[in-house]
Amino acid sequence: MNKGLFIVIEGIDGSGKGTQSKRLKSWLTDKNKHATTHSVFHTMEPTGGKIGVLLRNALKDGTIAPKILALLFAADRIEHCKEIEQHLEEGKIVISDRYLYSSIAYQGSQGVDKEWIMEINKFSLIPDIVFYLDITPESGLKRIFSRAKSYEHLKNEQKERDYLEKIDSLEKVRKNYLKLADENPFFVTINAEKTRKEVQGSIRKVMGRLLKAGKTSNDKDLRYFL
Ligand code: TYD
Repeated sequence: MNKGLFIVIEGIDGSGKGTQSKRLKSWLTDKNKHATTHSVFHTMEPTGGKIGVLLRNALKDGTIAPKILALLFAADRIEHCKEIEQHLEEGKIVISDRYLYSSIAYQGSQGVDKEWIMEINKFSLIPDIVFYLDITPESGLKRIFSRAKSYEHLKNEQKERDYLEKIDSLEKVRKNYLKLADENPFFVTINAEKTRKEVQGSIRKVMGRLLKAGKTSNDKDLRYFL
C-alpha cells in the first residue's frame, strides 16, 4: 500500500469541482491550519497529456461514439494513474478533479454498459475518498451561464431546445452519480446547492476527520465522517 492519500472530486457540469478542489489544496498546504503541512498534487481528467488533448477536441466535435470516448478516457487514465501512483508513493495527497466515476456517470448515461466500463478501467487505482458534489442540472447550468454572462440567449428557441436537452442528459448523469454514491462506502455526498464557503466547510470537516483517523481502508464507511 502506498503512503499517500488519493482524493477525487466528482459532479456534473457547474457543480463547482474546480473551485472546491483548488480551495481544498490551499487549505491542506496552509501551515497555519495543520500541525504538519501536506504536500499536495492537484490534477484533473481529461489530462493535459496527448490522449487528454485528443479527448477535449473529440468532446467539442461531438461526433465520436460514446463507446469510443469511454476507451479514450480509459487510455488517458492509464497514463494518469502512473503519474498519480508516483506522487502517492512519495507520500503526497493527490486531488483529482474528475476520475473513473465520470466515465461511469457520463458514458453510462449515453448507453455504454457499466460493467464494460469497469472492465476497461480495471487497472485504475481505487481512491481513498470521493467527494461527490451534488447539484441539480438546472442550478449547475445556471452557474455556467452566469459565468459566461450569456443567460439571455435562452430566449432564442433553438438555444432553448439545446438547454432542455442538456438538462435531460445531465439528469441521467446525476442519477448515475447518486447510484454510485449509494453503492460505494468511500463516496461522500456534499450538497453543492449551498454557498461555496459552506461546501468547502463540509469538505474540510470530512478531510480533517480523515486525516485524524489516518489512512483508511476502503471498507470503512466514510459517510459517517460528514
Ligand atoms: P471539462 O471542460 O474539463 O469540464 P468540467 O469543468 O465540467 O470538468 O470537460 C470535461 C468533460 O468531460 C465533462 O463534460 C465530463 C466529460 N467526461 C466524461 O464524459 N467522461 C470521463 O471519464 C471524464 C473524465 C470526463
